[in-house]
Amino acid sequence: MTVEITSRVVPLKWCGDRETGHLQMLDQRLLPGREVWLDMTSDRDVRRGIADMVIRGAPAIGIAAAYGFALGLRAFAYDPMVSLTSELDRLDEQLGSARPTAVNLRWALYRCRSRVEALEAQRAHLDEIVDALFDEAEAIWREDRDNNLALARHGLSLFEQPSRILTHCNTGGLATGGIGTALGVIRALDAASLLQHVWVDETRPYLQGARLTAWECAEDGLDATVITDSMAAHYMAQGLVDAVIVGTDRVARNGDVANKIGTYALAVLADHHEIPFYVASPISTLDPHTPSGAQIPIEERDPSEVTPDFPAAHPAFDVTPAGLVSAIITERGVHRPPLAESLPFPG
Ligand code: MRU
Repeated sequence: MTVEITSRVVPLKWCGDRETGHLQMLDQRLLPGREVWLDMTSDRDVRRGIADMVIRGAPAIGIAAAYGFALGLRAFAYDPMVSLTSELDRLDEQLGSARPTAVNLRWALYRCRSRVEALEAQRAHLDEIVDALFDEAEAIWREDRDNNLALARHGLSLFEQPSRILTHCNTGGLATGGIGTALGVIRALDAASLLQHVWVDETRPYLQGARLTAWECAEDGLDATVITDSMAAHYMAQGLVDAVIVGTDRVARNGDVANKIGTYALAVLADHHEIPFYVASPISTLDPHTPSGAQIPIEERDPSEVTPDFPAAHPAFDVTPAGLVSAIITERGVHRPPLAESLPFPG
C-alpha cells in the first residue's frame, strides 16, 4: 500500500525571476505566535539569517546557503581588482562559517563551488554560471524533498505496531526541503495509522521542540505532547515510549552522531530501558571527512540565552557514540551496526 505523506510547512520561498528576485525565509524565531517572512536579497542577508537562526535545521541551512551563493555571484561584477576566485573564496568563507556543526552547509557550498569551477573550465560566461547556480540550489532543494520521502518510507519499515515515539529538536518541514527527517518518519507512521503518540522534547536553544516541532505536529494534526527534556527518563520508565527517533547535523565516519544538545542523554536512557534509538539522516549529513565524533565542531552559543543572571554554559550540540545507535535511516535504507561499514557515505 502506498501512503501519502505530506507537510504543509515550508521554511523558504523564492520570489520573482532569477535576474531580480530574492529569497524569503520564514522567521522561525517568531513561531508559533507569528508567521513573518523576511526578504533575503544578498549573500550577507542569507548568512545573517542562518547565523541568527531565522532558518535552522541542517538540510534547510544547506539549501539556504546554496541560494546565498547564487545571490552573491549574481551581484558580482568583473573588476580588475577582484578575481572570480577570490569572490568564490569570500562566499565560501562567509556562508560556510555561519554555523559550524551541520555539515550540510559545507556540503551544499562544495556542490555550488564545484559547479562554478566546472563551468569556468569550459569558459562559460558569468550569466550562465549564475543561472547554473540557481539550478543547483533548486536541485539541492528538490533532492532533499525527494530524499525525505524515501527516508520516511524506509523508517516506516521498522514499525509493525502502533507506536509511541519520542523525538528531540526540530526535524520537520521547517528544518528541511520536504516533510522532514525524523519528523518525516513520524509523519509516515501517522499516514500509515501506526502512530500512537509523539512525545516532543522541548529542546534548547530557543525551545525548538516546544515551539517548532509542537507547531508542526499541531498543523498536521499529529497527536503530540510537549515534555521537558528531563521528563524523558520518567516516561521511558513507565513504559510509555516504544522508540526514540532523532535527526542529526553530522554523522562521522565511525558512525558517531552529532545532534542537538540532549540527544546523547536520550540515547543513554534508551539503552538503559532497552528502547530502540533511531537516527534519521539524509546522505548529505554523512561526513566521510570527519573520522569520529571527537572531531565534530560543537557550536557554543551565547550563555546569556540560558540565563542572563549567572555564569552559564551553552553548547548547542552533543555527540552520541555510534555504539548507542540502533540504526541510521537514510534515503537508501536502514543501516545497522557496524555503522562504519553499513552507512552509504557520499563520494
Ligand atoms: O540548531 P538547529 O535548529 O539548526 O538544529 C537543528 C537540529 O539539530 C536538527 O535535529 C537537525 O538539523 C537535523 S534534521 C533536520
